[in-house]
Amino acid sequence: MKLGAWARGPIGVKRPPMILHADSLVLLPTLPEESVDGVVTDPPYAVGITRRWDATKLPARQIWSECLRLLRPGRHILAFGASRTYHRLAADIEAAGFVVQTVLAWCYPPGTAKSVGVARAVDEANGVERRILGYRRGRSFFDRNAPRVVQTVKSSAPVSALAKAYEGCGTGLAPAHEPIVWATKPLSTGKLPTLPRQPLTLFYRKPGRAERAGNDHPTVKPVALMRDLVTRVTVPGEVVLDPFGGSGTTGVAALLERREFILIEQNVEFVRLICRRIRATDAAVREDKSERP
Ligand SMILES: C[S@@+](CC[C@H](N)C(=O)[O-])C[C@H]1O[C@@H](n2cnc3c(N)ncnc32)[C@H](O)[C@@H]1O
Repeated sequence: MKLGAWARGPIGVKRPPMILHADSLVLLPTLPEESVDGVVTDPPYAVGITRRWDATKLPARQIWSECLRLLRPGRHILAFGASRTYHRLAADIEAAGFVVQTVLAWCYPPGTAKSVGVARAVDEANGVERRILGYRRGRSFFDRNAPRVVQTVKSSAPVSALAKAYEGCGTGLAPAHEPIVWATKPLSTGKLPTLPRQPLTLFYRKPGRAERAGNDHPTVKPVALMRDLVTRVTVPGEVVLDPFGGSGTTGVAALLERREFILIEQNVEFVRLICRRIRATDAAVREDKSERP
């Protein structure tokens, strides 16, 4: 196991190591039992839209049994899922021994659907030339940061009867929310702890260009959303675990909320990214000038 440079020298928080370059399946069993106060994590969704780690498989169930072992009794796990695979994630977490309490919904303005327009596909497959409605100046799809307008985009209407019948239909829907499983490790009595009343719908925009600056991870969560989550399941000074660290947003949120954290990430490039973000956040917290990473 190789630790990120920052992980070797903890700054401002007590318990090393915090940023671990490892496969969680291998590393979690080496951590001490009941040493974690909350798990907040964003595992691969198995929807095959981003990178190899996201392609086909949900995390092994053993990850969730390990999270159960590591959590103190009566404490919680919050895990993101995708609309299409959430039910399998929730079932795996339950099978590991957690009690599923509820589902939180992170709602955001809908983006573009990962979808093929059926009407256009029908006309194209039949070699029918679509009726051009007009031209719109747009930015290059491949270089969204290009300062100038570099491409013209045409919009068109269906021509064949079959295409007209399917106008407006696609092979997928644009997502507008992500479910988050809330599950709890029962107390030693087998009962569940009480929970404060709270909203179960969370409204946060996806990270904008400024928040994503220098971060090329494909599935970054908003810091504000992760701060909301870590404060629901831990209090200052407690330890938050994220076995699927990504670019480290859970750690950034934990640091801003004065929690300790353990992040595990298998991709060394992402571990470097985590170290950069945590160092920057730590500097901001120390100077206390700004609470933004
Ligand atoms: C959905 S991303 C997390 C993104 C994160 N929430 C953020 O805001 O940057 C999931 C991450 O889990 C990592 N991962 C997948 N399987 C893993 C495993 N078995 N052990 C450690 N990391 C893993 C992937 O490399 C990926 O970076």
